[in-house]
Amino acid sequence: VAPMLIDTYGRVATDLRVSLTDRCNLRCTYCMPEEGLQWLAKPELLTDDEIVRLVSLAVTRLGVTEVRFTGGEPLLRPGLVDIVSRCAELSPRPRMSLTTNGIGLARTAEALREAGLDRVNVSLDTLRPEVFRALTRRDRHHDVLAGLAAARAAGLDPVKVNAVLMPGLNEDEAPDLLAWAVANDYELRFIEQMPLDAQHGWKRDGMITAGDILTSLRTRFDLTAEEREERGSAPAERWLVDGGPARVGVIASVTRPFCRACDRTRLTADGQVRTCLFAREETDLRGALRSGAGDEEIAGLWRRAMWGKKAGSGLDDPAFLQPDRPMSAIGG
Ligand code: GTP
Ligand code: 5AD
Ligand code: SF4
Repeated sequence: VAPMLIDTYGRVATDLRVSLTDRCNLRCTYCMPEEGLQWLAKPELLTDDEIVRLVSLAVTRLGVTEVRFTGGEPLLRPGLVDIVSRCAELSPRPRMSLTTNGIGLARTAEALREAGLDRVNVSLDTLRPEVFRALTRRDRHHDVLAGLAAARAAGLDPVKVNAVLMPGLNEDEAPDLLAWAVANDYELRFIEQMPLDAQHGWKRDGMITAGDILTSLRTRFDLTAEEREERGSAPAERWLVDGGPARVGVIASVTRPFCRACDRTRLTADGQVRTCLFAREETDLRGALRSGAGDEEIAGLWRRAMWGKKAGSGLDDPAFLQPDRPMSAIGG
């Protein structure tokens, strides 16, 4: 078997996304119901040591160069700073980033930076506190803004902001969000809503598309598409705003899928490898770890899992079935 994580379509997974917890302190309507979900029990979660061991093995044996910590909300994981600092000692040292809702970042940004985190992506869908409350069902708008400012002050760079537009809530906010992001030097990306919500309420007709977003932005800004080569495997297509240097991105997983260039492998909070957000199969590394498997055996399981990665998300297939686990459990 080849040392890297390759699949039958010739893609190489060098970007590992690790979910640190399925829990969250927000209840975004496009993600989970008001009452939350049936959370994983503590013994089901990988321990900090198990996470570091798997990241280490991915970096040293499988060619992973980028590690992103996600959730649920990764800042809810008590060991986060320690996990980051231990991963920063690996050789070769992976680039490390965090995707967070920003709550608690005001307190932790500095320590994360010192531990070796390179950059952060913060989710913020609206500039209006009352819309934030309707969208996330929590009154924490201010904490997110404070978290963003702290990330910038700590020297995390770039600071990206992710926004999902929802009909009837924040669909008219794209230009305001962009003006704000440009003024604050955050790299804003709009994300098309995907069928990954726990309630299975997603409807293609109901979502705001990349086309809608660009039309709305062009009422206030001049957008020029970035050169193709610069995109690489990034999910975001980017445009220069009013001639640059500011940029805006759109992650159009539904209307302009980018699966052909996908370079990702994922690890759920309970230690399952997933080849794709939309995959229906998982490979149990936690079981292997806990039954005493050696590094090379686990690496082999991981390679075999990725070899079976499907061509695409299957979203356009009429028989598409939403994965059983919601995004908060898979890792965003
Ligand atoms: P960078 O551009 O490297 O900062 O990473 P990113 O944009 O992939 O990371 P982030 O965690 O901010 O994710 C932004 C959005 O892209 C989220 O909604 C993710 O779920 C989505 N996304 C990330 N990876 C994939 C993927 O493999 N496939 C699809 N369809 N969407 C993805
Ligand atoms: N569709 C698109 N984006 C989503 N996110 C969470 N659920 C969905 C969904 N169903 C976003 C979050 C965060 C990122 C990791 O994914 O807002 O920015
Ligand atoms: Fe939490 Fe992210 Fe889901 Fe919102 S989208 S409820 S911030 S996990």
